[in-house]
Amino acid sequence: MKKLQFPKGFQWGVATSSYQVEGGNSNSDWWEWEKQGKADNESGRACDYWNRYKSDHNLLDELGCGSFRLGIEWSRVEPEEGKFDQAAINHYREILQDLKDRNIKTQVTLWWWTSPIWFQEKYGFHKKESVKLFVRYVEKIANEFGDLIDIFMTFNEPMVPLGQGFLAGAFPPGYMNPVKFLRALNNVAAAHRKSYDIIHRIKPDAKVGITYLYNWYESEGFGILLNTINRIAQWYRIDLLGNKIKGYQDFVGVHYYRLGKIKFNWKNIKMDSRNQTYLGFTIEEDESNVMRWVSYPKGIYLVLKQASDKFKLPIYISENGVPTREGIEDDERIIYIREHLAFVHKAISEGVDVRGYNFWSLMDNLEWLYGYEPKFGLIEIDYKTLERKPRKSFYEYAKICKSNEIEVGE
Ligand code: BGC
Repeated sequence: MKKLQFPKGFQWGVATSSYQVEGGNSNSDWWEWEKQGKADNESGRACDYWNRYKSDHNLLDELGCGSFRLGIEWSRVEPEEGKFDQAAINHYREILQDLKDRNIKTQVTLWWWTSPIWFQEKYGFHKKESVKLFVRYVEKIANEFGDLIDIFMTFNEPMVPLGQGFLAGAFPPGYMNPVKFLRALNNVAAAHRKSYDIIHRIKPDAKVGITYLYNWYESEGFGILLNTINRIAQWYRIDLLGNKIKGYQDFVGVHYYRLGKIKFNWKNIKMDSRNQTYLGFTIEEDESNVMRWVSYPKGIYLVLKQASDKFKLPIYISENGVPTREGIEDDERIIYIREHLAFVHKAISEGVDVRGYNFWSLMDNLEWLYGYEPKFGLIEIDYKTLERKPRKSFYEYAKICKSNEIEVGE
């Protein structure tokens, strides 16, 4: 076995998101979406992180990671238009203070695919008022507990909910309307730029950015048309928004999960974003994986190079992970982590400025449309009792966090 050492001060972490773990987010548009039967499960009490955060933070201590990525739920902080809920704000402050007391750096995401019901009913990101409403919320957060936030991430992978919510109709607000999509895209970009300025005004040394779902897509061997489609898809996922917020990012959040090998099938001319079919274009699947995702460790190296060339900014790998089925024996997760980290190490050794890595996720959680079936956690959640059971991978990842190195085969 060979040991690969990571740079001194490299930030090892794990990620979760508010809606996916907190539970009880009944003022959110996703809650309504679930009630209409548009997702496989209702989130309900989720992992009840909202009440159990202290014992979950004990597990972070046990893991020995130095940073934690979490979300703030706009619908908790501002359940009614213009009325901020001080109790919810204080509760978030307690959560963040608890992390600070443990010397864990916080990466806080301000919008993770969910909006307050009032916002969605009366406005939505396709309406121009959305910019000032969102920025008012951000300003409140920065004033109330910006001192406890080490890294601000305004929007999480915005192209995913913009595409799913305004083109594919699969996420709230459920539109299939390119005009609304373009308006929403421009408003999200404007909201990010303004948030960037406001956060810096309140906290001049703040680090503010956005996260991008990268993944690695290819279409080799399928001819010019597919290659062109692939390039357009790449432009859509990264450049379209990235170019609109140029100069308004202190770092880039890169998310990498899998390989997407684009194919074309005449027999499948339909729009079904849930099953990754876009008018005949679809991607290769691995039937053995619970979400049919194809693992491709080298892809993380390729996207890091790409992100570094494009943005020329420090990079945080804010998410990387693999869905499995239930059970705490998860050798495939351990292999996934090691293989991907070996490629992260390679990118760093070739000069890519990667500052940290978050594993997705600390614990099993609500996987949006797919409900509770896919398991992403280092910790298994028993949804009946809410008991936390660390998986085998938890202990392996703990070794990595504590030693700042990985062991790989010669
Ligand atoms: C999202 C998470 C999601 C994860 C796994 C990321 O794209 O930020 O919310 O659970 O992927 O699909």
